[in-house]
Amino acid sequence: MKAEPAEGRAHAKIILVGEHAVVYGFPAIVAPLGNLGAVARVQPHTGPMVLASRYGISGLDRAPQPVTGLRHLTVATLRALGGAPSNLRLSIEATIPPGVGLGSSAAVAIALVRALYRAHRRPLEVERLVRLAEIGERFAHGVPSGLDLWAASSATPLWFVRGRPPTRLTVSRPLAMVVANSGVPSQTRVAVDRVRQRLRVARRPTWSELEHLGTLARAMREALSTGEVERVGSVFTEAHRALEAVGVGHPATSHLAACAARAGALGAKTTGGGLGGSVVAVARDMAHACHLREALLAAGAAAAWTTRLGGVQDGEDA
Ligand code: PMV
Repeated sequence: MKAEPAEGRAHAKIILVGEHAVVYGFPAIVAPLGNLGAVARVQPHTGPMVLASRYGISGLDRAPQPVTGLRHLTVATLRALGGAPSNLRLSIEATIPPGVGLGSSAAVAIALVRALYRAHRRPLEVERLVRLAEIGERFAHGVPSGLDLWAASSATPLWFVRGRPPTRLTVSRPLAMVVANSGVPSQTRVAVDRVRQRLRVARRPTWSELEHLGTLARAMREALSTGEVERVGSVFTEAHRALEAVGVGHPATSHLAACAARAGALGAKTTGGGLGGSVVAVARDMAHACHLREALLAAGAAAAWTTRLGGVQDGEDA
């Protein structure tokens, strides 16, 4: 089937609670960060397939190392569509900074699969979308839990347990937040290995922190549905402590979490793989979120965005 011009989109995500614990079967909660996104565009073209991304423009078979996952994903998706990697030009653009725990690689993978399916005018159910996108994610993450991919494909917050289809969560009262990139690259693969290593040398305390993160996820689900914003904030702060206890903290994210607390945040935590990356803080309302954003930028954050759950999304790039 001949492809027609098409595009696919996906957005960034924030892990509200449960990163790392999710790898061991505990629940996690993710939310969309609509301010940042990825777009993949497909254009018919004559000759071998071309891939254009922030890493340059090349034939798909000579794509540079950082996009190895996308190359494999493209070939697998085209195979699923009964096509071959030729007569197409695929371009990827993303406003999500890579490697800061906001799901850049997952959003790119989801956008790419959506674009290729649309270009071939084929319907795409979400399970297939996530299963295909996982081929790209394995290169970025090793064995990902799937959390990022489901999050990048959903416009609503999700309750996620590994190996099961996620469920949508109700947020009964608007939750204003600020997300800040510390500027120190997050190292998800290294962080996941570090937790595994900790479990080997100090099984009992490490496991009990992971279990505790599962309990915190349940507490947050309840607080979101009852609209207890202060309780969401205290779950953030407690989750931050637990993540540091399992070894994935970093002075840069701790510094930002402490600055947010000093500026009146109801709670703050590292989000994503950790060992750097980003923090997310709960504000009293959107005006306070803007104030927190200024405070975090003044404290050295490389970029920060305000966002709101359970209401109209708004915010801006730094
Ligand atoms: O660093 P991120 O945003 O891709 O988040 C990774 C989440 C982990 O729980 C640490 C790993 C996983 O596969 O779920």
